[in-house]
Amino acid sequence: MIALANNASIKLAANYIKSGELVIFPTETVYGLGADATNNAAIEELYEIKNRPGNNPLIIHISTIDDLAKISHVTPSAMVLAKTFWPGPLTLVLRRKLNSGIVADACSGLDTIAIRMPHNKVALDLIRLSKIPIAAPSANPSGRTSPTTAEHASSAIGNKVAMILDGGACRIGIESTVISLVQDPPLLLRPGDITVDEIEALIGSVNIPDQRTETAPSSPGRATSHYAPSLPVRLNAMDLVGDEALLAFGANTISKTNRVLNLSPDGSLEEAAANLYKMLIELDNPKYSGIAVMSIPNKGLGLAINDRLNRAAAKRS
Ligand code: TXA
Ligand code: MG
Repeated sequence: MIALANNASIKLAANYIKSGELVIFPTETVYGLGADATNNAAIEELYEIKNRPGNNPLIIHISTIDDLAKISHVTPSAMVLAKTFWPGPLTLVLRRKLNSGIVADACSGLDTIAIRMPHNKVALDLIRLSKIPIAAPSANPSGRTSPTTAEHASSAIGNKVAMILDGGACRIGIESTVISLVQDPPLLLRPGDITVDEIEALIGSVNIPDQRTETAPSSPGRATSHYAPSLPVRLNAMDLVGDEALLAFGANTISKTNRVLNLSPDGSLEEAAANLYKMLIELDNPKYSGIAVMSIPNKGLGLAINDRLNRAAAKRS
């Protein structure tokens, strides 16, 4: 059931979470598939629904900074980042408090835990009313494109959850920045809307793994193929081959047919991020032979967009 997010529906959703059921809800980044992070059976069901490998841990969502210290060992850098960027699209990986009640399997049994406080009123109200931390991966089958609208979440896994809260399109459109603070210097595990420059300005130098030379992924979620539509994806396209559809960016000199969507005709990276998954899903139609994507500048938010596109285009196992 899809319900427009309002006080009554959020309360109902919170009751579902408390009773161990799963709920899809909006955040400012992408839609999340939420479960009570302290309930073993709910976490098990969440992994099953997503067909997610057990060695890929979940992000635990909280509604106040005070909850950070209840489930993790907070460092001074973590406090500075949380106070600056929360609520917002930044996930901190810290040492896990082992007796906090968070299900160990939600963290894949690691002694670390990923935590974020989202900047979306529906998400914050849901966590607050549930009175428990909510584990929430993106609401898509493992490896596939993340949903940024309730409709896309619904068609991906909607029939497997108690309820979908519809809070409209996600403002940012790509997942949170993930940074690990358990090593020195800290390690960027996933680029996002909060950039390395913004983080380094506060806590000093951060290491950035090179996707091309990375052999053992530093985070289980850094699988090379990810975010993938069903159709093959071809990057830095300068033309269309066969029956490809085009995902354009900026001035589109390639094709003006009806099999084109433009991430941002004005060349805005913010607009492109917000449209990325929505347009990939819209073009993912068997009447096309593939999706050709024009090149996106690799700076600022473009780094996060290209990270997702590289993985969407990567060889699939
Ligand atoms: O924007 C977001 O973060 C969204 C919304 C729903 O909040 N959530 C999301 O979750 O993107 P998910 O499960 O799709 O991505 C979680 C990422 C994965 O790459 C996972 O490997 C990483 O966080 N992660 C979680 N716990 C970790 C840990 N202890 N150490 C290293 N990486 C971790
Ligand atoms: Mg995901």
